[in-house]
Amino acid sequence: VVLLPTPEDCARVVADAVAGSVAAAQEGGPVALGLATGSSPLLAYRELLARHRAGAFPTEGVTAYLLDEYVGLPAGHPESYLQTIRREITDELGIAAHGPDGSAADPLRAALDYEARLRAAGPVAVQVLGIGANGHLGFNEPGSSLVSRTRVKTLTERTRTDNARFFDGDVEAVPRHVITQGLGTIREARHLVLVATGGAKAAAVAEAVEGPLSASCPGSVLQLHPHVTVVVDEAAGSRL
Ligand code: GLP
Repeated sequence: VVLLPTPEDCARVVADAVAGSVAAAQEGGPVALGLATGSSPLLAYRELLARHRAGAFPTEGVTAYLLDEYVGLPAGHPESYLQTIRREITDELGIAAHGPDGSAADPLRAALDYEARLRAAGPVAVQVLGIGANGHLGFNEPGSSLVSRTRVKTLTERTRTDNARFFDGDVEAVPRHVITQGLGTIREARHLVLVATGGAKAAAVAEAVEGPLSASCPGSVLQLHPHVTVVVDEAAGSRL
């Protein structure tokens, strides 16, 4: 656990962790880089882009894989997670990004297909993670099996309300279903890097890091992984 004064400090440490694991993996061939959407990693993505522009974060052989995707948004919708991650980082890094196909006619099948795709491309060298205020990872809401695989899930009202800000504040516009990597799938990444900033995440961070291992806090699954870097600012770490 790395506790730092500001979100900007967190972004630098997250960028160091991601760039270091990517560079080590590049020595062995193609690299699967796991990226998360949400506001938490945005400063770190900006930092990685700045390093890339300066030649300090080469991305040869790197392909990005998303954690999750909304079900039912048309392909190309600006708030789909694939479009979001392309806009935020991967287009400028010059790398391809893949995620579950939330616009597929058969989302159950699309979830299985994405799991197979990850298995073929993986293991993910480093997975960036945020955490929901209720402890969710990806879209694994409380109650998710700690060994779950990629599947369709129903969002809690809290998460839909939290994410309404990306849909002009309209909760009704937030999809009810998603496809998300399972907690078991996420755990297969070689290195997990979780970033959380701000007081709204303090309880979730404390429960994930110091609470009991429990499906009630999906983030607690981090405790089962041999290589995790949790990067928090003072506010998010205030209950540790
Ligand atoms: C979203 C995403 C997660 C993200 C979390 C926190 O719903 N599915 O991957 O980590 O919620 O979001 P934020 O970083 O914006 O607080």
